[in-house]
Amino acid sequence: MFCIAIDGPAGSGKSTISKMLAKELNFTNIDTGALYRAIAYYFSRENIDPNTINIENELEHIKIDVHNENFEQQIFLNDVNITDKIRTEKISKLASECSKNILVREYLLGLQRDLARKSNTVIDGRDIGTVVVPNADVKIFLTASPETRAKRRYLELKLKDPNVNYEDILKDIKNRDTQDMNRELSPLKITPDYIKVDNTEYNLEETIKIMLDVIKRSIEI
Ligand code: DC
Repeated sequence: MFCIAIDGPAGSGKSTISKMLAKELNFTNIDTGALYRAIAYYFSRENIDPNTINIENELEHIKIDVHNENFEQQIFLNDVNITDKIRTEKISKLASECSKNILVREYLLGLQRDLARKSNTVIDGRDIGTVVVPNADVKIFLTASPETRAKRRYLELKLKDPNVNYEDILKDIKNRDTQDMNRELSPLKITPDYIKVDNTEYNLEETIKIMLDVIKRSIEI
């Protein structure tokens, strides 16, 4: 199976871009951040602080399934579709928190590898090319400046809530970067086998074009 791994920080556009690339290439898209978000959603719903409980016992109560419908990933938590419930700032922060835990990472590793084995995939996250699929055919590190990423998130969130504050979002993005890049387990990092794409100066269409060129060139080599 052909695997394109896309890693990068929060707000770099990974999820949207991976979904569009998958559609273009007729591959399956796996957004692995959504799996961490599903676990965070469970903890949030059950009012559980992941730092104070026996995670192992809790994970026994969690069953996550992933289906793809018309290139849209659907996430099921214990047979209930929660896809529309996991994109809040609260869940973003909690997911980053949960992702530091070794048991959570081990729990999701097998699931991610099973999904990547099933079909040709564009799979995105933080540790896909370093840990989950180290032998991926193409590895891309997608990034942009924190200010650009915060501005994109601000414009997106403002549609739902006119009171959102840009400075707060920038602070959250920087905190998540620090947390994702400095955690002990599978931190977000770029290794020499990645091709770096910095889309600070590019819009969505331009980024997609660059990524498709990168993928085509990597395949031809
Ligand atoms: O990409 P995202 O914002 O949906 O990811 C949510 C959190 O999950 C992110 O802060 C870090 C974590 N994550 C991870 O540790 N490893 C991955 N492969 C994907 C996400």
